[in-house]
Amino acid sequence: MASARGEFSSRFGFVMAAAGSAVGLGNIWGFPTQAASNGGAAFLLVYLVVAFTLAYPALMAELIIGRHAHANAVSALRQVANNRGQRLVGGLTGIVGFVVASLILSFYAIVAGWMMAFCGASLATLSGAEDLAAWLTSFSLECNLLSMAVFLALTIAIVGKGVNDGIERWSSRLMPALLLTLVLLVAYVLTLDGALQGLKVYLLPDFSRALAPDLILKALGAAFFSLSLGVGTMLIYGSYLDDRQNLPLVGGMVTAVDIGIAVLAGFLVLPAMYVALHNGVEIFSAGGQLISEDTLIFTVLPDLFARMGLAGSVVSLFFFFLMGIAALTSSISMLEVPVAYTVETYGTGRKQAAVAIGCAIGVVSAVILLDFADLFGLVVTLTTRYSQPLIGFVFCIYAGWIWHRDKLLQELRKGNPEVASGLFWKIWPWWVRFFCPAIILAIFVQSLL
Ligand code: PHE
Repeated sequence: MASARGEFSSRFGFVMAAAGSAVGLGNIWGFPTQAASNGGAAFLLVYLVVAFTLAYPALMAELIIGRHAHANAVSALRQVANNRGQRLVGGLTGIVGFVVASLILSFYAIVAGWMMAFCGASLATLSGAEDLAAWLTSFSLECNLLSMAVFLALTIAIVGKGVNDGIERWSSRLMPALLLTLVLLVAYVLTLDGALQGLKVYLLPDFSRALAPDLILKALGAAFFSLSLGVGTMLIYGSYLDDRQNLPLVGGMVTAVDIGIAVLAGFLVLPAMYVALHNGVEIFSAGGQLISEDTLIFTVLPDLFARMGLAGSVVSLFFFFLMGIAALTSSISMLEVPVAYTVETYGTGRKQAAVAIGCAIGVVSAVILLDFADLFGLVVTLTTRYSQPLIGFVFCIYAGWIWHRDKLLQELRKGNPEVASGLFWKIWPWWVRFFCPAIILAIFVQSLL
């Protein structure tokens, strides 16, 4: 059975694929928009703190359990368990994780579809098809349904191909291009009038806001979403990793790339908002709230590109193309969760499983689109703000309390024989045992009160 499973062929390929999963709409659409509507720098500050103290340790829990079991989350948590009760809870957690992963994909495909539609619109503009461009940027139901379906079809096609040919190859090529485009766009936007004000909002924190429980919970959700935690994605990617890899190191690299790109995207989106404001585009309501939070970057970035003249259409084409790709390297990692489970548990063919599950998710996306106002925000909040940190909490419990400490050490030694004398082993086991679960719970209880 193990030989039939795919495996990443190199460390670079793995880091690119795991970073490809992590870097996505969460970094460039989610994080900057949430920062903008939650006090800018205050959000950035809290985000950084929770990312390094809670999300990175939780990522490590998933990677280690995954690589140890070389299996999907359901079987992996069961393997780690010591008795029937723990096996039951572990299996259930894995199943809830894949339901959440599927639900995340259902809203993700909608937003990624917008990215693709805007990419198509730039192409249409460049070839003089103004009507088509206008339709593609209209957010009409037909357009939304079509672009969501196209995006899901691409996701299904790649997952159907498996780990090496699909996931690894795509991620390694396109992630570096995304990073370069972002850097160039940031450099450009900072030269424009109004950008400085955005920069101030992003960098000067209002400490009174940073301690609001609700803000902390939002930042926690954002960090877990951004690192693809709490749904079994990183666990399954860890399971495709060979035993020679030094886990704390690769996990650290993935975290650094992911957080770095989110922070970088903030340097693009917040200044771009204020450039747009400076140019008379309305982005705040009378009450000071951001209007159209979900579609904000589809307002401010096109405004930015439009100011660049013809070159702007080219940049816009390139940007939305790369966003579509970033979304794709994340969406494949979401679909991989239920697909791997189905293939490994029921022996279904990979292609069939990808098509069947992908289509079912498409139906859920269509339902969300039909009642967007009520359902979209609800699904986003339920999955990202509540489910992900809570399931991540369970992963921490399994890594910290249920799994035997010696076995954990054995697993870590595989890629790094000296691990026991390093800092990671001195801190992390205690950290996932006490600190992570306690703080995640405390944040929840606080925000519920
Ligand atoms: N991390 C991805 C992003 O930032 C989203 C994601 C969540 C991917 C959960 C996989 C699992 O866009």
